[in-house]
Amino acid sequence: MFNHQTLFETTQFYVQRQNLAVNPRIAALRERHDMMNSIINELNQSSKNDLKRHLLLTSDKITNIFTQIQADKENVNSINLPLQADTKDNKNGSNFKRKSDEQSLGLPSTVNQNFNFQQPLISSNNLRQAVFKPGADMQDLVDQNMILEQLCQNQEHFLKELYEEAENIANSNLIWKKEIIQMNNHIANIDKTISNLECNFVSEVKAVKNQVMNLHITSDQLQEEMDIEFENNQNLMEQNQKYSQELSQLLEIKKQLEKEIEETEMHQKSLKEQNNQFSDFLATSEIKQQELFQRIELTVAEKKDLNDELQSIKGNIRVYCRIRPLLPSEINVEKCTNIIQVTSSNNVALQVPQQHLKSENNQKDYRFSFEQIFDENSSQQTVFAEMSQLIQSLIDGFNVCIFAYGQTGSGKTYTIEGGQSEESKGLMQRSMEMIFQQIKYLQQFGWTYKLFVSFQEVYMEQHRDLITNFKVSEKQDQLVFVEINSIEEFYPLMKRARENRKTGSTMCNDHSSRSHSIFQLKLYGSNTKDGKTCNGTLNLVDLAGSERVTQSKAEGLLLEETKFINRSLTSLGDVINSLAQKDKHTPFRNSKLTYLLQPYLSGEGSKTLMFLNLSPSSSSYHQTLCSLRFGDKVSNIKLKKK
Ligand SMILES: Nc1ncnc2c1ncn2[C@@H]1O[C@H](COP(=O)(O)OP(=O)(O)OP(=O)(O)O)[C@@H](O)[C@H]1O
Ligand SMILES: [Mg+2]
Repeated sequence: MFNHQTLFETTQFYVQRQNLAVNPRIAALRERHDMMNSIINELNQSSKNDLKRHLLLTSDKITNIFTQIQADKENVNSINLPLQADTKDNKNGSNFKRKSDEQSLGLPSTVNQNFNFQQPLISSNNLRQAVFKPGADMQDLVDQNMILEQLCQNQEHFLKELYEEAENIANSNLIWKKEIIQMNNHIANIDKTISNLECNFVSEVKAVKNQVMNLHITSDQLQEEMDIEFENNQNLMEQNQKYSQELSQLLEIKKQLEKEIEETEMHQKSLKEQNNQFSDFLATSEIKQQELFQRIELTVAEKKDLNDELQSIKGNIRVYCRIRPLLPSEINVEKCTNIIQVTSSNNVALQVPQQHLKSENNQKDYRFSFEQIFDENSSQQTVFAEMSQLIQSLIDGFNVCIFAYGQTGSGKTYTIEGGQSEESKGLMQRSMEMIFQQIKYLQQFGWTYKLFVSFQEVYMEQHRDLITNFKVSEKQDQLVFVEINSIEEFYPLMKRARENRKTGSTMCNDHSSRSHSIFQLKLYGSNTKDGKTCNGTLNLVDLAGSERVTQSKAEGLLLEETKFINRSLTSLGDVINSLAQKDKHTPFRNSKLTYLLQPYLSGEGSKTLMFLNLSPSSSSYHQTLCSLRFGDKVSNIKLKKK
């Protein structure tokens, strides 16, 4: 319920945070969108206005310039006209028009203003009429002469003035010509300015067009961006909607949780009350518990003694017989039959195959009894369960030795080491797991343990360390004992030893062990409460398989190995015989194997178990019978007591 509350709060917080993050973003996007639109509008408007204004200005300018040119041209025309009219009018005796043109143009007057243009000129006819009047006397003639003289003077004066005016006109003509040149230059400049202005106008129009184009592109891009943003916006809105839905669901969950919390609080209250009652109860229980612990400790000690007693009753070297199933190759290829019958949990019968009946004097079968018989269907777990009391003895401070004996391919390595899977793992792994479990259990009673392991093999009478893969000298000081604190530390050592062990392929077993392997565990226990100690050693011995040289068809190194194996197993048999007959001297030193196992076979405070591994195949009849006889002998040995 607490988790639901936390989950709800976390999700609510997350949704709120998402909203907080998303909403401003949407607002910002909207603002940006509006801003973009207004910018585009402004740009469109301003560019249109600018263009209009510019066009108006330019057209005004052009109009002005044209009017000016027109005026200038007219001026120029009007300047030339009076000059022509002047000569014309002079011929006609009229100067009136020229004067008004000069004034209208505002040009400097070159004509003498005092000259009377209205003054009538006397023609020669008029003069002749005035002078030669018929009937005129002398006085009249004198008067007429005077008048004539006066007229001449006037004519002379007028002529002079005409000359002066002509001169002035010539001068002004020059000035006007200069002015015309200036005007023409001015017009040329104006033309240039116009063409420049036209050029500028064209380039400006171009620039404005480009600007407009760019604005269109920018506008398109902005539109695209806006579309994307719009899409994002929509996605965000959808997400938002989802979150809102989730939020409403969560709110409902919250309501339910709140209800639950209320109920829990009520429950808590009642629990508190109960707790108070329990505290009182605990106080009394603790005292009882201490008493119980003391009783358990006593029981553990009692159990240890009972276990010890039980082991003693059962005998020092116990023999467990294990029969493996027929192998597929034995059934399919060799067409062998099963010749072993387990008649009860302690009794086994070996049937004599038809072809051996004669040599066995027609005896149909051989019957043997052992402490425990495991048939072909017995699992690894069943086998271990039966011998786990011995592991308990080890923890209680005894030396334990378990060895597997039997012909090659009868299942010794399978029993001791087993396979890789959980079901097929062998005694070694199961024992170690149990030991670590027990150590953990015993911690509460103050027991702490130190564990050291070694892996060794005897191969062709040579002693070798399987962890370092070095030979071990007579003194055995080169044997490595590795301290382990957990089962996980044990596995890699077991793997390395398995890899280093000598194996070979024989006719009887593809992965035949060509050496005797000895796994040793030294266990040192001490109790911090009462200072007690208990030390024990576990030996798990996987012997190399006995085999008949003729049957195995071994040659070369394999034959050599087989000889060594058989010799050392014979020594083991001799030692067992000697122990069974209670000889004064037992030949432990005859082989490296018996020498190494001496402490565990001689009964010096040790419990020994032999697994008699048997093949049920009719092809192994002789070997199986030998093994059964050997096992029978071993089960009758009574070792010395500790
Ligand atoms: N109880 C069993 N259940 C199933 N298969 C088994 C059993 N015992 C042995 N086998 C199989 O029989 C074959 C021979 O077994 P294993 O190698 O253990 O024989 P071995 O006695 O160690 O032989 P060697 O002396 O040559 O080393 C193996 O393939 C093994 O898996
Ligand atoms: Mg083997």
